[in-house]
Amino acid sequence: MKLIIINGPNLNLLGKREPEIYGKNTFEEFFAYLQEKYPHITLHYFQSNSEGALIDKLHEVGFTYDGIIMNAGAYTHTSIAIADAIAGIKTGVIEVHISNVHAREAFRHKSYMAAKCVGSIAGLGLTGYELAIDYFLQ
Ligand code: DQA
Repeated sequence: MKLIIINGPNLNLLGKREPEIYGKNTFEEFFAYLQEKYPHITLHYFQSNSEGALIDKLHEVGFTYDGIIMNAGAYTHTSIAIADAIAGIKTGVIEVHISNVHAREAFRHKSYMAAKCVGSIAGLGLTGYELAIDYFLQ
């Protein structure tokens, strides 16, 4: 089982960025926990602040991996190109948001990628990534 977590813009700042919304843990700490929890799967992590790099990564992994867990950050609400990339690959994508985007500003309620994804998880903090892994493992 080969899975990848792809994080989009500003998620490299987790732990420092608006901790009241996104929590105090860095993603690197959380990823180390995930690797310990799931030693039997190949779990990769990629983060970029650039839309093109995120699309290139989807193309690279999207025909060989068993699952993709993606938090596209603000590109969720703006990027038709990321939605098209998800539609164009074979591997299923689960959309994850740490915060409950539906309880926040109206511009965060729209997700271009949601319709192209297997499903979406929002508002459950970093646990959302864990639940997405569990889904792919089922
Ligand atoms: C986010 C929600 C987005 O609206 C925001 O732009 C992010 C993080 C989340 O994980 O809650 O960067 O995707």
